[in-house]
Amino acid sequence: MSKVQGPEAHGKISNLYAIWIDGRKHLATPNLAPGKKVYDERIVNAGGTEYRLWNPWRSKLCAAVLKGINFPLESDSRILYLGAATGTTVSHISDMVPDGIIYAVEISPRPVSNLIETARSRKNVIPILADAARPSTYLGMVETVDFIYQDIAQRDQAGIALKNGRTYLRKGGTLVLALKSQSIDSAAKPGRVFEGEAEKLSEEFRIRNRVRLEPHHKYHMMLTADYV
Ligand SMILES: C[S@@+](CC[C@H](N)C(=O)[O-])C[C@H]1O[C@@H](n2cnc3c(N)ncnc32)[C@H](O)[C@@H]1O
Repeated sequence: MSKVQGPEAHGKISNLYAIWIDGRKHLATPNLAPGKKVYDERIVNAGGTEYRLWNPWRSKLCAAVLKGINFPLESDSRILYLGAATGTTVSHISDMVPDGIIYAVEISPRPVSNLIETARSRKNVIPILADAARPSTYLGMVETVDFIYQDIAQRDQAGIALKNGRTYLRKGGTLVLALKSQSIDSAAKPGRVFEGEAEKLSEEFRIRNRVRLEPHHKYHMMLTADYV
């Protein structure tokens, strides 16, 4: 574990619990499971707290935060996470909501086994093996949430977000959606594809922010929207 010193290490980003490390070179989150890594992230110590460096090449949410996207995450937020994979980004959100809960939905059994391993040392992560396109299948397992985070490379990305929003998101809650244009229409210009998805969402959501995630994630845009 390397030690990071200096007041820079304690500057908070907005209301996120992530901090800047090494003079704004890296973002990091306070490790909810001290001594444990989730992927190959670096662990550092700042002011007596252990932090995990958050890698924007591995996490679209981190890339979006670096681009200035901001959303009102609280330490006790309830989150429905769609497309959890092995839990890379789930784990950093888990660090930031120590009193909250993350319902982590993933369709593929192989990454879910890693996710279950991660959840053993993180009591705020509930892994769910399910298809996010069929939200009624996890009705008994998920409560009304404050946030939906979606990162699924499927054709109907806005449609999946809308269905889950109607079922699980509280009024005034926030959708944080990673859109991948290539999975929706690889022949069309990405900007057009993003516009089309935003238009579908705007019937039920008020779009707040959009940022392209290049250079970290090609053909991706992060969108935040309020459920109205
Ligand atoms: C790009 S990866 C997610 C990476 C992850 N969000 C992270 O940052 O650590 C997309 C994931 O979505 C999953 N997925 C695809 N279609 C899905 C569906 N209909 N329901 C749930 N998960 C799905 C894939 O199996 C894959 O693990």
